[in-house]
Amino acid sequence: MDFPGNTPADTAARRAAWTAYWATGGLHSCVGSFDGNYSGAIGAFWRDVFDRLPGGPLRALDLATGNGALPRLLWEHRKQVPGLEVDAVDLAQLAPGWLDPSQHAGLRFHAGVAMENLPFPDACFDLVGSQYGFEYALRDAALAEALRVLKPGGRLALVMHHADSVLVRVGRSELRNQAIVLAPEGLLPATAAVLPWIAKARAGIDPSGEPGALEARNAYNRAIQALATDIAGSPAPDLLVEARAWVNQLLAGTGADPGPSLEKLSAYRDGLVAAGLRTGELIEHALGAEQLQSLVQAIQAARPAARVEVETLQQAQGVLGWGLRLEPA
Ligand SMILES: C[S@@+](CC[C@H](N)C(=O)[O-])C[C@H]1O[C@@H](n2cnc3c(N)ncnc32)[C@H](O)[C@@H]1O
Repeated sequence: MDFPGNTPADTAARRAAWTAYWATGGLHSCVGSFDGNYSGAIGAFWRDVFDRLPGGPLRALDLATGNGALPRLLWEHRKQVPGLEVDAVDLAQLAPGWLDPSQHAGLRFHAGVAMENLPFPDACFDLVGSQYGFEYALRDAALAEALRVLKPGGRLALVMHHADSVLVRVGRSELRNQAIVLAPEGLLPATAAVLPWIAKARAGIDPSGEPGALEARNAYNRAIQALATDIAGSPAPDLLVEARAWVNQLLAGTGADPGPSLEKLSAYRDGLVAAGLRTGELIEHALGAEQLQSLVQAIQAARPAARVEVETLQQAQGVLGWGLRLEPA
C-alpha cells in the first residue's frame, strides 16, 4: 500500500519544502479548494464530522497539520464547549501566526513529528483527523499509529487527495509550466545569462561587441519567443504569464551591479522548485479508487465493529478529494 519516495533524503527534502512554505504564514496549501472560509464541500464534511462528536471535554489529534487550518476550524466550531484539547503534528517546522496562547490554551503544535511514529500514549484521542495530510505518509505505519492512539470508541476522519480531482489536474499543468521556465533553454536560465550584460550596459559599458553578450541576448530572445508560444497554447498559462512579468520587472530594476538581481532570480527559482516538489507530492499521493478501497479494508480489519464511510467531496469546480470516516459502532 505504501508509495516509494520515502528514503531519508526524500523525507528531508519534503520537510524542507514544507517548512519553507509554512514559514510564509499561509493557513493552508490548497487555497482554491476552500472558498477562503470553508463554505464548500470540505467545510461541509468537517462540520458534519464535528457535529457528530459528543459534548463535553474532547481530545483531538490533527495529522500533518501544516499551519493548523483544521485545528482552527475545530476550535471555532467548538468554542462554546469547554474542555477541548488539540494536538497537531507535522513533519515540517510550522508558523501558525493565528495562534494566540491566551485564546487557544489546550491547542498544542508539535513540529518535526512524523505521523508514522506518534509521541502519544495508546487510546488517548476521541478524534484523529487529517486534511490533505494522511495520504502523504507511509500509510500502513500511519494507520497503525492513528488507530493506536485513538480511543476504542473514537472517530477517525480524513480528507485526502483524489486522483481525479481538480487539484491534481491543475497541479499537472503547473508542473508542466514550471518545467518550461526552469529548462536549460527556458526563461530563468536565459535571464541569468543575460543579466550580467544588462548590468554592464547600465554601468555605461557597451557590451554589444562581445560574443558572450550576443549569445546571451539571442538565447534570451529565443526563450521569450518560445514562452509566448507556450502561453498561447496552454489551457492554464498563469504561471508562465506571471514568470514573464516577474522577469520583465527584474530586468527593468537591474542596475550596474548584477548581484542583487541574480540573488532575487535564484530565490525565485528556488521557490518554483519547492512549489514543484509540493505539487509533485500532491499528485503522487492522490488516491485512486482502488487505493482508497485498500485503506478502507485495512481500517475495517483493524476495527471490525466500527463503520467506515467514504464519499467523494465535490462542488462546482469539480472533485476536491475523498472524505473518509470511521464511526464507532
Ligand atoms: C498538503 S499539506 C496539508 C497541511 C494541512 N493539513 C492543511 O490542510 O493545510 C501536507 C502536510 O503533510 C506534512 N507531511 C508529509 N508527510 C508527513 C509525515 N510522514 N508525517 C507528518 N507530516 C507529514 C507536510 O509537512 C505538509 O505540511
